[in-house]
Amino acid sequence: MDAISLMMEEHKNIKRVLKVIRKLCIKILNKQEIELEVFYKIIDFVKNYADKHHHNKEEEILFKKISDELGEKIKNGPIYGMLAEHDMGRLYILNLESALEKVKNGDEDAKVDIIANSISYADLLNRHIDKEDNAIYKFGEKNLSKEAIKEVEEKCKEVEKIATDAYIQKKYLKIIEELEEISKY
Ligand SMILES: [Fe+2]
Ligand SMILES: [Fe+2]
Repeated sequence: MDAISLMMEEHKNIKRVLKVIRKLCIKILNKQEIELEVFYKIIDFVKNYADKHHHNKEEEILFKKISDELGEKIKNGPIYGMLAEHDMGRLYILNLESALEKVKNGDEDAKVDIIANSISYADLLNRHIDKEDNAIYKFGEKNLSKEAIKEVEEKCKEVEKIATDAYIQKKYLKIIEELEEISKY
């Protein structure tokens, strides 16, 4: 599979977890209970798969190549926007972690921060992924030179190989399935 198609597949995997996040928040509203260990599993997924594995390929390989090849306007416009959204997502997750810690220590009011940051993250990422699938990736595919695309392919392949050797994709696909199963009830 080519690098961009693979990244679009990763988007589908990330979106599956975004659905779980929403379901868990609705559960908090209905039952008032927080499944802390499930949230920690989600944070693990977000940090190590969505961010480290996926966003890293965008930031270090694809978006970097688009910025280098297609000019300042693209770099300082749409690409900057995507990077800013990655950062915003990291902030929501940091806030979520701190809210979980507070609830763990008996601060009931922090439940609202769990919901607020989880839903903000899910909403941000859903929109972000749609922009990448429908605009940024397509723009890159259409406008990058053949050499640039080849370089992106090779670098992404390398990242995939290292991740495969560390069972990253396997581990997180299993976590997605577990999360979906848990969120059914
Ligand atoms: Fe992104
Ligand atoms: Fe992405």
